[in-house]
Parts: sequence; structure tokens; C-alpha cells
Amino acid sequence: MKIRKCTPIVALDVTDLDSAVSIVNILGGSISWYKIGSVLFTKEGPSAVEAIKKFGKNIFLDLKFYDIPNTVAGAVKQCVRLGVDMLTVHASGGKNMIERAVETSKEYAEKEGGNPPKIIAVTVLTSFDENDLKDDFGLNAPLEDITKKLVSVVMQAGADGIVASPNELKMLRKIFGEDLTIITPGVRPVWSQKSDQKRVMAPAQAKKDGSDFLVIGRPIIASTNPKKSAEKILDEIRKAGNEQ
Ligand code: C5P
Repeated sequence: MKIRKCTPIVALDVTDLDSAVSIVNILGGSISWYKIGSVLFTKEGPSAVEAIKKFGKNIFLDLKFYDIPNTVAGAVKQCVRLGVDMLTVHASGGKNMIERAVETSKEYAEKEGGNPPKIIAVTVLTSFDENDLKDDFGLNAPLEDITKKLVSVVMQAGADGIVASPNELKMLRKIFGEDLTIITPGVRPVWSQKSDQKRVMAPAQAKKDGSDFLVIGRPIIASTNPKKSAEKILDEIRKAGNEQ
């Protein structure tokens, strides 16, 4: 298995811009990627992205678009204009929707003279289990089969990557190879609390199993010393895979 760089993305899971900016200030040069999700974005709007971009940081905009292809394409255009670096769509939006997102990202970035945001698809939400799939969608298949089916659709549509649980990393790398970008939340250093995450993995293991980006929220932003926690995690990631 190829050992990747494995970059941490700090989840700005706060409700106002001042708190978000304060986290970015505290972490300084240690962290280069930040995730802005629906809570902060709904409260502060595009200015949340603009403010963090001013620090020269990369933005992962996690709004999980799911709509008709034309509407998703329109939203992707606005992400290009904002200078977003990666964004999420739902894989269950289907091949046409994802294809339009990918095409729009490339075409509009070329037109505007920026970099195309990477299109990342969310497969099955971790809040879903097999019973929900059966009860809500009438799907009688194992969760892993649905995930695999959705990842193959995502790849056919030309998307850059997926969000996956760290526990799925080995299986996904084996089936889908090394080129797919895989982003994993649910990462916890051993010294940190699990909070409400049920299936967690340490950063070093997630790197070894093939993760490209680790989304980490509370172990850093809720820590009594966020900078020190971020440095500890970075150190753990740097060392992983270089032991032999
Ligand atoms: O604080 P914590 O490290 O658990 O934050 C993880 C981040 O990743 C949160 O922003 C959460 O919404 C997000 N996420 C997740 N599980 C998923 C998808 C996203 O925890 N399956």
C-alpha cells in the first residue's frame, strides 16, 4: 500500500465567524485546510469562506449538494467564484448530477481563471444502517454493497474522491485502487475523547490504511490547547508509515 501525505482538515464546527477566525488564528501555520459545513455557512454565508481564504487557507466546503444536475451545476459555479478548493455532493444524486458537477467545476474554473474545486461524493451517511436502507428506501442489500455500488458510480462520473469511514479504507483501496481521493472523518488520537463518534480510528492508522485527508473537529477545536493538540496529531501523522 502506498503511504500518502495524509493532510488534516480541521472542521470549523462553530456557529459564528468570530469563533472560526479565532481557531484559524490560534492554529496559525500548523493547519492549511479547513472544513466549513452547513451550520457555519447557513449562519454566516459566503463571508465565512472569504474570511478563511484571506488567511491563505484551503477550504473544504461540506454542503453535500443533492438536486437536479442543473441546480447543482449552478451551486458549483458559485463555489468556483468563492475559491473553494473541495466540495461535497451526495453520491445518491446519481451519475448525471455528479458528472455535471465535475464538468462545471473544470469548465467554469478555466473560464474564471481559478483552480477547479475537487468534487467529493458522500456515499451512505454514517447515521444510516441496513435497517434504515430497507425501511426508508426498500433496499435489501448489505450496506457495504451499496457503498461499493455508489463508489463505482462516483468514479464513472469522474469525481475526484469520496468521504468514507476509516473502517472502510482498506476495503475501498483494495477494490478501487490508489487514485481515488479518500477523506475520513471519525478520527481520534488515542489520547483524545471519542465524543459521540462510535467507530473511530487513530490518525496514524488511518494514514497507513490509505486516507488522503483526515477531518478532525473536537480533538482540536474543543481542546484546552488547540495548537498543541494539532501539533501532536501532525507529529503522529508524519511518523506513521516511516517507522521501518
Ligand atoms: O468533532 P469531530 O472530529 O467528530 O468532527 C468530525 C466532523 O466530520 C464533523 O464536522 C462531522 O459533521 C463530520 N462528519 C462525520 N461523519 C461523517 C461525515 C462527516 O463526523 N460520516
